[in-house]
Amino acid sequence: MFQHICNGDKDFCNLFDGKWVEASSGKYLTILSPVDGLLVGRVPAMSREDVDRAIQNTKESQPVWAATPIHERASVFYKAADLLEEHADEIAAVLTMEIAKDRRSAWFEVKRTADFLRYTADAGKSMAGEAISGDNFPGGSKNKISYVSRVPLGTVLAISPFNYPINLSASKIAPALIGGNAVLLKPASQGAISALYLADILQEAGLPKGVLNTITGKGSEIGDYIVTHPGVNFINFTGSTAVGKHIAKEAGMVPLMLELGGKDAAIVLSDADLEFAAQTIISGAYAYAGQRCTAVKRILATGAVADRLISKLLSGIAKLKVGDPREDATIVPLINEKAADFVMELIGDAKQKGAKILTGGKREGNLIQPTLVDNVTTDMRLAWEEPFGPVLPILRVRDEQEAINIANRSEYGLQSSVFTKNIHDAFYIANRLEVGTVQINNKTERGPDHFPFLGVKASGMGTQGVKYAIEAMTRPKAIVFNLQDNGTVHHEGPIRGEE
Ligand code: NAP
Ligand code: G3P
Repeated sequence: MFQHICNGDKDFCNLFDGKWVEASSGKYLTILSPVDGLLVGRVPAMSREDVDRAIQNTKESQPVWAATPIHERASVFYKAADLLEEHADEIAAVLTMEIAKDRRSAWFEVKRTADFLRYTADAGKSMAGEAISGDNFPGGSKNKISYVSRVPLGTVLAISPFNYPINLSASKIAPALIGGNAVLLKPASQGAISALYLADILQEAGLPKGVLNTITGKGSEIGDYIVTHPGVNFINFTGSTAVGKHIAKEAGMVPLMLELGGKDAAIVLSDADLEFAAQTIISGAYAYAGQRCTAVKRILATGAVADRLISKLLSGIAKLKVGDPREDATIVPLINEKAADFVMELIGDAKQKGAKILTGGKREGNLIQPTLVDNVTTDMRLAWEEPFGPVLPILRVRDEQEAINIANRSEYGLQSSVFTKNIHDAFYIANRLEVGTVQINNKTERGPDHFPFLGVKASGMGTQGVKYAIEAMTRPKAIVFNLQDNGTVHHEGPIRGEE
């Protein structure tokens, strides 16, 4: 089934014009597992010339794909979804070793992507245009009719992060393709092997050659070249705020969608069900060792609430499984040493400024214990920076208004949670939070994937979510009919058939 494993059983290739190819230089990136440090495989280190060829190929292939009826385009996604489910165990095992995601979450990422593909196919088929009569506007007339349809933008550059290499590649590729675009996928290097499985499945499902090409290689080496390439018509990026801002500067006039970092706050009010809030916050903060953009990354609560909440948090944290993702641990080794160093830096800074480490705070290699930090104050880095690891700070506030103020002082604006039994209080706070989404009595999370998913401020620009992504990667095309009073259309020469 899988063709992208193209040299031996550990060298993978990129998809180019329907074939699996190495880098023209013959160079490879070695991907080692964060789980055991052993080789997962190698992916081509593609060059600028390889990028040129891949983009040119999408240009040549895209018009035929755009002219393909949507129901035929959609059929590829239904087939790909079936193949993903058929091979879910095998692909999940690769995910687990490549990005240290626990087996259950890895399997669920594959399943979620199959569901995403089906939903996108359905949504694409119901993508309708409109006809607008001119007389709706003063001075207009019924003789002027605008027929508006949605057309693709051309070549979409999809850049995905390490933590969802399959789902956050598909969340860009599928809406782009169903809208008639061609796609160049640049996956995260740590996650590239998993992403190539997705490309393989889409090709196996019947995606015509050249409509999806992949480019593996270090973003720091070829990233700027790709994002400034004149052949790119849209950039759909998910990753860190630092890289997102850099791309926004480099990309010039190319339309962008950026899903970036977060510092999601859980605001817990005094009337909340604290048992439920504790369990939900723990799941939101520590799943996949906190390596989720929508992870709960701070608790804002009054002192009295914090005191009652802490014991419940500690007992739940104590139950978290720590260790090997192959044994379904929740707290797994972070993606690399640099990531683990950064988390420890934030913990150290908080401790040195007087915060209280209630549990955790220690590391073994890149595995950091689930850490809960109390008495975090606004002079500490942990109050504001995104750890992308298993550490949760508690900031004690005077009241709801201070919770809102501190939540909004963050440079980020992805999501927030509000825990309370009083829907009026929930809405009062939700309406004042500067974020893309507020979860009432739930952890912050992206799904379900047809919901709008967006960040404001340093958390991004544009809106993901199936319908929104299709709209973002297509545009209106208007054809205006100008009829005469006697009902004939302006034209020169005889009407066809009356020559
Ligand atoms: P990252 O380091 O920003 O990398 C993201 C992607 O950008 C990777 O494919 C990376 O390639 C590529 N890249 C790096 N430098 C580039 C450049 N100069 N030009 C073009 N592409 C470049 O992020 P990550 O470590 O993969 O993911 C963690 C971060 O992403 C966290 O901040 C997290 O909050 C954020 N994130 C946000 C969301 C969301 O939906 N809002 C979802 C997931 C993650 P290489 O891997 O080769 O460097
Ligand atoms: O960090 C990935 C982001 O998309 C979060 O997804 O479903 O874990 O909330 P989810």
